Amino acid sequence: MKPSLRTFLIIAVFVLGSFPFAAFAGSNVFDVDHEFYPYYPSLIKWNKSNAQFTPPEVCNGCHSDKYNEWTGSVHALAFQDPVYQGELNKAIKAVGHNISRQCEGCHSPAGVITGEIKKAGIAGLSPMALAGVSCDICHSISGTTHWQTPAHEPENGSFILTPGVQTEEGLQLIKRGPFTPSDGCGMGFHKCVESSLHLQADLCASCHQVYHYDSHFPLEATYLEWKHGPYAQKEILCQDCHMVDIRTFMRTADEFRKPGRKEYRHFFNGANYLIYHLAEGAARKAGDEKKADILKEKYEMAVKRLQSAADLEISPVYRGGKLVEVKIKVKNVRAGHNLPTSLTNVRQMWLEIAAKDEKGNVFMTSGTTDAQGHLPENVRVLNSDGMGDDFHFAIDPWVVTAFSRHDTIPARGYKEVYYALSAPQGNNKIILEARLRYRQADQGVAEALLSAVPESINLKDIYGLTKVPELPVVDMVVKQASFSTVQ
Ligand code: HEC
Ligand code: HEC
Ligand code: HEC
Ligand code: HEC
Ligand code: HEC
Repeated sequence: MKPSLRTFLIIAVFVLGSFPFAAFAGSNVFDVDHEFYPYYPSLIKWNKSNAQFTPPEVCNGCHSDKYNEWTGSVHALAFQDPVYQGELNKAIKAVGHNISRQCEGCHSPAGVITGEIKKAGIAGLSPMALAGVSCDICHSISGTTHWQTPAHEPENGSFILTPGVQTEEGLQLIKRGPFTPSDGCGMGFHKCVESSLHLQADLCASCHQVYHYDSHFPLEATYLEWKHGPYAQKEILCQDCHMVDIRTFMRTADEFRKPGRKEYRHFFNGANYLIYHLAEGAARKAGDEKKADILKEKYEMAVKRLQSAADLEISPVYRGGKLVEVKIKVKNVRAGHNLPTSLTNVRQMWLEIAAKDEKGNVFMTSGTTDAQGHLPENVRVLNSDGMGDDFHFAIDPWVVTAFSRHDTIPARGYKEVYYALSAPQGNNKIILEARLRYRQADQGVAEALLSAVPESINLKDIYGLTKVPELPVVDMVVKQASFSTVQ
């Protein structure tokens, strides 16, 4: 029996309707080849074979040094991170389950390949999916498709995963690394292949360039900020600052000198001290003191990194012989990309200042948070504001398609902030105290995300949280200067 035209149309509508993303693929600029990218809106690719991914605990058997460094890192927490899970839950509710593939392509690539993640949360998932950005993600990356992506730049997980191959002798796991393989490399468990990609920023780029799932607006552009800055020109890579300890990172940044071969560590430490703080609470609650101590060290490392990233220079501005303003130069001295970077519309970096008269009485302040942890309206926050197509302020990555304001500091660059001042009568001198402060998010934003965590993550049972505590603020730089009120 031949199907009628009507049945055909119904089928056609049904088929098209079940691929909601096909409806968006109409742009000539950001055209998407759905056959080439089967996991779209994630751009990860998998060289299909029977070779399975290997959980990090197995690698630990022979590479315990690397495992101990990676444990508790932001990469290890990338999927279980409650802030991520809260946002993922909101994304699925707002856009539908398909968008979660985009997120997981970077936060749990193995979970996308196995297809096991059906909703937000951690219940019933394999150890490999839960392990986030684990050993066998990075060391199975066999190539990238950076030039074939819709934006023709690295984006949304544009790498190729090849955990192993099928040979005539059977299944062969392959791990890729920086070295020419020695005899017996892998001890029969895996073959080793030398990979120059692991000694390039391109390895990190595909996950550290986050584009809107549909409009391809660059929401997070750490890789391109780096590429267009002074560190890339001198071949100082992501690895050279983020895969070493704090002292080595500072030397690398100051002298533009690559670390020595033996100095690399699997820390992947950045600015996110909050995630370590939450995870430390969870480890203590579970009675795992060793893990809690590791997380405390990582917390301190992230705080130290932030405290070495910037510097402040305070100078007076006189007009008609009178002090009228102070100028504060905020310098990005050691971040290899903009400061702040990545989620610039969520992270907050701002100046808090207090001006004091000769007797030490404060006569002017700016940037002080209120009792609920909120910033005042008029403070200059060095970050960005996202907005949707309707020109309204927005935070969520599926809504933000442009920035209405982008005020971050390029690598080795600076921004100037001015404050009008009129010194109280009878003072020849004033004292100005300035602090550059940082936190992961506005208090209200953090509360909204953490209140959206899926049921399988019980904040009270796992993290011991009954309410969202006031987010810790880090003082990146504190400086004081005194100057005359007349010139
Ligand atoms: C985010 C990506 C990433 C993750 C995750 C990762 N690695 Fe690596 N790994 C690298 C890079 C990049 C290098 C090369 C760094 C260098 O120059 O030493 C490397 C180097 C190595 C080396 C060879 C270098 C040496 O000093 O012996 C081994 C072995 C290794 N990793 C094992 C692991 C294990 C085990 C894990 C999980 C516990 C892991 N890696 C997780 C990116 C990663
Ligand atoms: C291209 C890779 C990529 C994709 C796709 C991606 N992310 Fe991320 N995500 C990252 C990276 C890298 C960071 C860390 C940036 C930083 O620390 O500022 C991050 C950080 C986050 C954070 C902040 C976590 C914290 O503890 O502060 C949230 C929340 C988040 N992502 C949610 C999502 C959601 C929801 C999606 C899907 C709609 C998504 N991400 C898609 C790479 C990605
Ligand atoms: C049975 C032991 C064993 C297991 C399990 C194991 N490896 Fe290895 N691997 C070795 C040995 C031995 C070497 C060579 C010496 C070295 O670099 O430590 C090696 C080397 C490597 C290298 C360096 C390759 C190069 O040429 O630069 C990487 C990367 C690596 N392993 C990753 C992994 C990952 C990822 C896992 C887990 C999926 C893993 N290994 C599991 C024994 C093992
Ligand atoms: C498979 C995707 C993927 C790859 C490859 C990858 N990352 Fe990440 N990275 C992430 C995600 C996702 C996060 C954020 C997780 C979160 O906050 O929940 C992250 C977080 C980080 C952080 C911590 C940021 C912070 O806020 O503290 C650093 C540092 C980092 N990555 C460096 C690197 C470097 C260096 C490489 C390359 C050697 C690399 N990453 C490769 C996905 C990836
Ligand atoms: C010269 C050293 C240096 C280089 C090179 C560098 N970074 Fe960073 N990175 C820093 C410092 C310092 C910070 C902390 C200040 C900040 O957040 O910008 C940081 C922070 C980060 C964060 C955390 C952002 C957040 O919101 O928590 C991520 C993610 C990151 N870097 C990824 C990368 C990637 C990917 C590359 C390579 C494309 C790279 N970095 C190159 C020094 C460096």
